Amino acid sequence: MDRIRVNGGKPLHGRIAISGAKNAALPLMIASLLTEDMLVLDNVPRLADVNLLQRILGNHGVDVMISGKRPGEAEYTGQTLSISAARIVDTTAPYELVSRMRASFWVIAPLVARMGEARVSMPGGCAIGTRPVDLLIMAIERLGAQIDIEAGYVIARAPNGLRGAEIVFPKVTVSGTHTAVMAASLADGTTVIENAAREPEIADVASCLNKMGARISGAGSSRIVIEGVSKLNGARHSVIPDRIETGTYAIAVAMASGDVLLEHTRPELLQSALDVLREAGVTIQSTNEGIRVARDGGGLRPVEVTTAPFPGFPTDLQAQLMALMTRARGTSRITETIFENRFMHVQELVRLGAHIQLDGDTATIEGVERLKGAPVMATDLRASVSLVIAALAAEGETMVNRVYHLDRGFERLEDKLSACGADIERIRG
Ligand code: UD1
Repeated sequence: MDRIRVNGGKPLHGRIAISGAKNAALPLMIASLLTEDMLVLDNVPRLADVNLLQRILGNHGVDVMISGKRPGEAEYTGQTLSISAARIVDTTAPYELVSRMRASFWVIAPLVARMGEARVSMPGGCAIGTRPVDLLIMAIERLGAQIDIEAGYVIARAPNGLRGAEIVFPKVTVSGTHTAVMAASLADGTTVIENAAREPEIADVASCLNKMGARISGAGSSRIVIEGVSKLNGARHSVIPDRIETGTYAIAVAMASGDVLLEHTRPELLQSALDVLREAGVTIQSTNEGIRVARDGGGLRPVEVTTAPFPGFPTDLQAQLMALMTRARGTSRITETIFENRFMHVQELVRLGAHIQLDGDTATIEGVERLKGAPVMATDLRASVSLVIAALAAEGETMVNRVYHLDRGFERLEDKLSACGADIERIRG
């Protein structure tokens, strides 16, 4: 299993190209199931999750052709996926595949909408809490699907097609909103989604669906209206920049100090996180080329942050911010409201010398003068990268074990950081 070795204490200088958003690429790939025509996606990141979803879609009979420049070649801009779901050969998504990536459960919506049936395994437990799918099921049920649960599988049937309906989410859910939008696109009549998730990835998927002939308005706001159509066609769409990757590198620069331009990204995708970094004393500037992040040797100020659905501070940057606050001058407080049990990085950060107290969903972090390198264990995607961030400022060597979690969501992390002067390398095996 690969490991990442970091020798801390090197400032970061240079440019980092931000990849396409994982959390947009995955639902966009799933949306290909809605049409028999070709869907072409540009700026798709090279990630383990993208490869895995390709295999999962392959199981349904979807062909994916990959092209594009390789990393290291001039003007590398991610890969292009040409996806054809002309013939769906199987409407079952088996446990072996769904249990490896939770988002693959979302195939239930396009499959039932286009094929009239879907049989999808429940995703099962996950390292960051129970993460249920009840609201996804509620959404397709509201659209007229008949739902049965048998032997760990959700079976959705709508032999005469789905019907538009009003869907009111009792809590904001990204997965629920994607599911409802995709299913409603092919439903008969109008669907109104209330309390929809407002994440930029929802708007990105809706904009691709509209290019495919869907009639969706309001995506990106909490009320989305969808006029169902009987058929969708092919389209070409470029995936939006990854706001979590953007925020992660901004925090890395804040931690290591230095001056880095984050290219191919936009500040409005992560305004709340950039505001928090400014509050902590980090220089953030928007330029026509991207976002410039800088910090000189001066100290970091502590912050109080509560995670929230977009446009609030993202839960997917919580672990990274906590790593940063371990070095602030004073006491910070971070409250996690989206996922229970999303504090697995805490004990690993403590191994590096951090002072963190957990009380329910709130972590209190007393900034320390120095962190010291140690072997640590990556537990989930965002937790893993928080350990790399801490390691950038720790004295001596930190070995991050089990980095396959990182490869699910960060493209060539060690290359991007080492190009800016970090002493970081992957040890294969
Ligand atoms: C997506 C993101 C993930 C991010 C999260 C919150 C992708 C591939 N993943 O995950 O990176 O951390 O949004 O921004 O886009 N819930 C229910 N019932 C349901 C569905 C969700 O109770 O049927 C709860 C969840 O347990 C959680 C909250 O709703 O507490 C938010 O979950 P949701 O927004 O759906 O997250 P994901 O779409 O799984």
